[in-house]
Amino acid sequence: MSALSKIVVLGAGMVGGSLAQRLAESDLASEVVLIDIIDGLPQGKALDIQESAPILGFSTRVTGSTSLDAIAGADVVVETAGLARKPGMSRSDLLEKNAAIVKGHAEAVRAKAPKAVCIVVTNPVDVMTYYFREVSGFPPGRVFGESGTLDTARFRTFVADALHVAPRDVTGFVLGTHGDTMVPILSLTSVAGVPLTKLLPADKLEAIVKRTKGGGGEIVNLLKSGSAYYAPSASQFEMIQAVAQNEHRLLGVTGWVNGEFGEKGLYIGVPVVIGREGVERVMEVDLTPAEKTAFHASVEAVRADLAILAKMPH
Ligand code: 2OP
Repeated sequence: MSALSKIVVLGAGMVGGSLAQRLAESDLASEVVLIDIIDGLPQGKALDIQESAPILGFSTRVTGSTSLDAIAGADVVVETAGLARKPGMSRSDLLEKNAAIVKGHAEAVRAKAPKAVCIVVTNPVDVMTYYFREVSGFPPGRVFGESGTLDTARFRTFVADALHVAPRDVTGFVLGTHGDTMVPILSLTSVAGVPLTKLLPADKLEAIVKRTKGGGGEIVNLLKSGSAYYAPSASQFEMIQAVAQNEHRLLGVTGWVNGEFGEKGLYIGVPVVIGREGVERVMEVDLTPAEKTAFHASVEAVRADLAILAKMPH
């Protein structure tokens, strides 16, 4: 039996479609629903995924809809809708347009799926997660965003490449905003328990940090239209699995801070424990003085975007 009854993916673009495929194939939920405003897109992608079931052997029922009524009864909602970056754009450039989309969706989720755990992916994600939570009125632990799981996956990939080791043996955190001031935490990164700082020289580490910070932009520049979706959907899957299977995973996500790391009243990338009800707690970990300074700078960048959000008519 599947762990969940229904997962709703808002937005049937490349991220939403790719996530729906991963979810369907995993049988984490009896039903996966893709929702988009472009008629035919969610229905077409859903049917296409559904038609792979006889070959792949999954039982998930996959449907598509243009109606927000299809949110009803969702256990988990993933907000992927919104515009993606084009080359030269920052994630913050998307703020106003995407806020309007997120607002309508959060209102619908509040009305139709009041118990759902919600994961926000839409950029700028730290601000959109804040806004989704605010509009939904949900407890902060039931709304969180994608940042660390994705940025950490990129970071781990580059470390694994540099050391010629299996990517899964590299663990660590990228904290702070999902933006240019994100903070790869070298002091907490290890390869099967061996501290990374003992394995690579400073100049190599610096190059990996730089590439990680520009990781999303690197893909945007390569694709030229649209942004990344394979690693993003894998990272969303990791969080949804933690919820569905009540795994109590320790993951870096865009979480609500209420005094942890000396900050409060906003969403930012922090290590959290995730289970069936969403974020169970923020785990405060020791950072070096330089990492703390970088983390607080990252918080200031999010606060600047929150000030733009506060000035918007809504
Ligand atoms: C990324 O980093 C789209 O923000 C997303 O690829």
